[in-house]
Amino acid sequence: MREKIEQLMKKIEEFNAGTPQHLEEFRIRILGKKGELTEMFDEFKNVAAEQKREIGKLLNEVKITVQEKLKSQKELFDNVETGKNIADKTLPANADSLGSRHPISLAKNEILEIFTRLGFTVADGPEIEDDWHVFSALNFPPNHPARDMQDTFFIEQNPDILLRTHTSSIQVRTMEKQKPPIRVVCPGRVFRNEAISARAHCIFHQVEGLYIDKNVSFADMKQTLLYFAREMFGENTEIRLRPSFFPFTEPSAEMDVSCKICGGKGCNICKYTGWLEVLGCGIVDPNVLESCGIDSKEYTGFAFGMGVERLAMLKWQVKDLRLYFENDVRFLEQFQSAI
Ligand code: PHE
Repeated sequence: MREKIEQLMKKIEEFNAGTPQHLEEFRIRILGKKGELTEMFDEFKNVAAEQKREIGKLLNEVKITVQEKLKSQKELFDNVETGKNIADKTLPANADSLGSRHPISLAKNEILEIFTRLGFTVADGPEIEDDWHVFSALNFPPNHPARDMQDTFFIEQNPDILLRTHTSSIQVRTMEKQKPPIRVVCPGRVFRNEAISARAHCIFHQVEGLYIDKNVSFADMKQTLLYFAREMFGENTEIRLRPSFFPFTEPSAEMDVSCKICGGKGCNICKYTGWLEVLGCGIVDPNVLESCGIDSKEYTGFAFGMGVERLAMLKWQVKDLRLYFENDVRFLEQFQSAI
């Protein structure tokens, strides 16, 4: 009997269940009504009195061992099921599912890529700025209503520290530390205290650009922006410049592109005008150059700035800008790209 018990013990110790069913079969085989251990307990009645103590002890040990085995093996399966702790290292690993880039990143990358092809480099700067880099250096006079054009978020009641309202601040930083020729594009998040709607948001993205050298003209700007528009919206795209106002450029303009939905004939996307407004631009005001330590008699330049959400809306005909901020995968999954 002792030998039989020891054999059973060995069997239990070595047992490893491949599946939950396998484990259950094992339990029945050992502890079931006709199970091996159950039968041994029955036989125990016939054991000679002087052996009862020793055999009883052995049987109890086997019982504890088998219960522990059943418990630990069951836990393994439970954990695999809930994914808590995958203790079975032989299971195949879950492949990570690949995400897709956010459409705003796709649009921004495309814009940057077009300008880097023209020799522009990408510059970066802080989102928390000071008055000088966002307004004063850009020729916004104190208390000038132009500051209201860009409802600003200030920090801690200190009017000198604010969230940048445009990435023109990066252009100022670039001019302060770099001598012309300068050719930079400045992508980044900007903040304006505006009510959120289908067409506006208090946080959005811009790409602004700056080109400063000797003899840079309005015609250079026009040609650069025409190239950009055709790369971005298709080769038949036309542009038109309308006079506008920005404190940091003179003359200033707003650029429209021909509506690619209707080919300029007029539709509800372009509000039956045939044109879509895409960016602001102009010749850098001499005051701005001087503020940044650049001789305005020697150098001239042009600047432009665009909203990435707006361009992305036009490019993919998205009618509500809020979709870009809601992280709804049903929307985001529609934008697959290699870049
Ligand atoms: N900074 C302007 C804006 O945020 C855009 C702009 C940049 C216009 C450069 C002209 C020249 O609206």
